[in-house]
Amino acid sequence: MLNIALPKGRLGDKVYNLLASVGYDCKSIYDDNRKLVFENEELGVRYLLVKPSDVAIYVEHNAADIGIVGKDILLEYEPDVYELLDLKLGKCRMAVAAKSDYVEDQNRTLRVATKFVNIAKEHYAGMNRDIDIIKLNGSVELAPILGLADVIIDLVESGNTIRENNLKVVDEFKQISARLIANKSSYVFKKEEISQMVDSLRIVV
Ligand code: PRP
Repeated sequence: MLNIALPKGRLGDKVYNLLASVGYDCKSIYDDNRKLVFENEELGVRYLLVKPSDVAIYVEHNAADIGIVGKDILLEYEPDVYELLDLKLGKCRMAVAAKSDYVEDQNRTLRVATKFVNIAKEHYAGMNRDIDIIKLNGSVELAPILGLADVIIDLVESGNTIRENNLKVVDEFKQISARLIANKSSYVFKKEEISQMVDSLRIVV
């Protein structure tokens, strides 16, 4: 049985449809219930629905053999897993954004609100810029509006959240998309099943 950690939500739905299209369907996943584990015994796949930011944790600790995770999470947490394939889904950019009337002042410490502390540190590391990082867990766009931060570092997909909150993108510095990852020992012991799936997916992406 191949255990697949699928991110709950928008990205997970897209990824499940992709996997189903190449033969790894599990119809019961559409049942309207609170179950988190779905199995297709015949095909030998078991889907585990997990929070997107937890996918890499399940895979790294061998609770799942493979998983689908945003490149943002891989860059931020650097889990000890194999990155097998860019699924070209959930494409977005990691960006710096600020209030639309924001003017940069190099002489002041820059207050940066973000969910991605390590990415933010790395981004400013080479710029010789003093920063204070304010770690948030969501709705990051509120921070500049309320004066909690000067800028944010966050994902921008359609740009709607930025626009609707009167912010502007100051800099886009990383392209992000969903990646198929594997646990290192599963990649050895379940190599045949994993390779078969990767080969099928490679054709459609
Ligand atoms: C993400 C991201 C942005 C938004 C970008 O937030 O952090 O806020 O989506 O998408 P857009 O450019 O298409 O508007 P998410 O919906 O995951 O919620 P969160 O604020 O709770 O992190």
